[in-house]
Amino acid sequence: MQKILFVCLGNICRSPLAEALFKKKVIQNGLTEYFKIDSCGTSDYHIGELPDDRTIANAKANGLKINHRGRQFTTDDFKKFDKILVMDRSNLENVFSLSTRLSERERVALIRDYEEENSLKGTNVPDPYYGGEKGFQNVYDILERCTGKLLETL
Ligand code: 4NP
Repeated sequence: MQKILFVCLGNICRSPLAEALFKKKVIQNGLTEYFKIDSCGTSDYHIGELPDDRTIANAKANGLKINHRGRQFTTDDFKKFDKILVMDRSNLENVFSLSTRLSERERVALIRDYEEENSLKGTNVPDPYYGGEKGFQNVYDILERCTGKLLETL
């Protein structure tokens, strides 16, 4: 059983989308019993909320249903998950700041480490919250690629 947690700031745009995309791939490959998959945010801004309307609409336009309620990252998540995949460097710093041991930090990585193209590896998934519709499709395309590669490597 692999336990995977996707993390962003608000848990209403990027990480719930990564969770939904990865879950869909896991289901399509008949691997459901081998995974526990969740997402959360480092902030407490949107606890209990559904994903952003623009994220839900963009996912729907791409044929993906998204169903998640916002929750905040806690230090317990270091115990509950094997891999903690963050969307950007600021999320990485926030998660690291809550860690107390190396074994916890070793579980944390940037989702874009799973980009195939070298120039894109380890870059940030841009925060689409303050931008327009294009930003949401850009995030979708990035996370579609990276969650696909993630599943391939597991
Ligand atoms: P997310 O986007 O981290 O991808 O969920 C954001 C959502 C909300 C806020 C910032 C980023 N906010 O400041 O409320």
